[in-house]
This record gives sequence, C-alpha cells and structure tokens, in this order.
Amino acid sequence: MQKDDAYSDGGDTYLDIQAELGITKHMGGHRASELLYSLCHVSEAESVLEIGCGIGVGPVYLARHFRGQVTATDVSEKMLEWARKRAARERLSHRIRFQQADVQALPFEDESFDVVIVESVLSFVQDKRRALDEIIRVTRTGGYIGVNDSYWLESAPEEGQIDFQLGAEILTRQQWKELWSGLPLEGKDILEQQLTIKQETKDRFKWVGIPYILAAWGRLIKLLWRNPKARASIRSQMNAPVGLYRSMGYGLFVGRKPVK
Ligand SMILES: C[S@@+](CC[C@H](N)C(=O)[O-])C[C@H]1O[C@@H](n2cnc3c(N)ncnc32)[C@H](O)[C@@H]1O
Repeated sequence: MQKDDAYSDGGDTYLDIQAELGITKHMGGHRASELLYSLCHVSEAESVLEIGCGIGVGPVYLARHFRGQVTATDVSEKMLEWARKRAARERLSHRIRFQQADVQALPFEDESFDVVIVESVLSFVQDKRRALDEIIRVTRTGGYIGVNDSYWLESAPEEGQIDFQLGAEILTRQQWKELWSGLPLEGKDILEQQLTIKQETKDRFKWVGIPYILAAWGRLIKLLWRNPKARASIRSQMNAPVGLYRSMGYGLFVGRKPVK
C-alpha cells in the first residue's frame, strides 16, 4: 500500500475516491465493531488504538462509549481530516489523539496500548505479517488485538480482477487462517461471518449515519460530474459483478499478547 498521504492528490484508486468523498467502511458495520470491542474487552481498557481509522467512526464510538484514552491513526492525512471533523462535530476531540502512521511502521513505543483494533485495513496492506508484528509490538502484555477483514471464501475469483480495481490484496479464508495461526498470540479465535448485501447496507447506514452517507452521495455526484478520471475509475470499480459478494466473507480475528 502507498505510504504517507497517498490519497490526497486527486488519485483514482478505491481509497483515493473514498478519501475524496469522506466515506469508509468495513464489513459488518456497527454489529461487527461492537462484537469485536466486546471480544477484546475494550470496556476494561485504559488505552485503545484504532489503526486505519478512515473517517473516524470507530474512534468516535470508542470515545463516546468507553472510558479509555483513544488513539486513532491512518496512513492518509485526508482521511484523518474527516476523522478530526467528525470528532469535533461530536465534541469528542479532547478524548481522541489522531496521528498519521503506516501500520507497517508504527511510531509508538513497545507495549503502548491495552487494545488494538484494525478494521478493513490489512487487505490494503502489502506486507500483512509485518503489519501484524507491529500491531503485536505496540500491544501490552495481556492486551487484546482485534482485526476485522474480508476474505474470499474459496479462491479469488478471476472475473473483474477486483483486487486490482480496489488496490487491495484480499486473502482467501484459508490464507487468513494460516496467517493468524502463525502469530505469537494466545486465545486466538476466528469468528467467520457471512455477507448479504441487504444486511451490509443496513449495518453501514447505522454505523456511518444516514446524513453523512447522503452528504457523501452529494459529493459523489459532483465528482462524477466534474472529474473524468474519477468517473472512469468509479465505473471500472462498479463493473465488478454483484455476484462477487457471494464469494466473500469476513472474519473477526481476536488474540491476546501472552506473558513471555
Ligand atoms: C476501507 S478503509 C476502512 C476505514 C475504517 N477502518 C472503517 O472501517 O471505516 C481502509 C483504511 O485503511 C487505511 N490504510 C490503508 N493502508 C494503510 C496503511 N498502510 N497504514 C495505515 N492505514 C492504512 C486507508 O487510508 C483507509 O482509511
């Protein structure tokens, strides 16, 4: 994945366009996040790090519902701008520390956080093992790591070359299992989740909020109107057959950093 502020210069990857529109997502919306927070015992945490926070829905939720100090990072300054605005709008800026960072080289001391949450980020990261090693490094002994990511149920479908269009490298379920089982964590668990477009749409509206989705749609119409490069890119991303959803699932991956 690109480094530093990769999405702010009018590029046309999936994440460039999300950063432009001020919209990000992960599979399972609010239901997946709430389950992940509970499995990671966020309610007992003094400090929580959310990596790849996008437009900031996760950190704002964490700051609103839990007592711990929240830190939120993203590789993109443009995403962080949206996240800071959301925190300010919700009057929670004082509870969240935002910082630009690539998950593959986190600017934090070892053992800095009780819980680290990463939702729909690692599919966009080239070196997933290096990213996971970094995540484990900054988690306190006895602390929890919670990852939510998509996978292909079987092999990656050839039609549509979706990975290329998304600028992502989505693993298969089996590859995720192998990656997760090789990590130096205890109590490792994988909750496999199924996808339906109807449920995804409902969960996403609830997670991001209807007014923000409508505002992003307004920006999408403007972008399609004004920017031919973005128009072509969005068209190619939308060309992916809807049936691809049936080839996908997602997992909630939870583990605990063991005492050495
Ligand atoms: C699909 S969005 C998900 C955002 C958010 N977690 C959510 O669920 O709405 C992926 C996010 O990961 C960020 N990202 C991509 N590569 C990254 C990297 N190497 N380090 C940190 N963040 C990264 C992107 O900028 C984007 O905000």
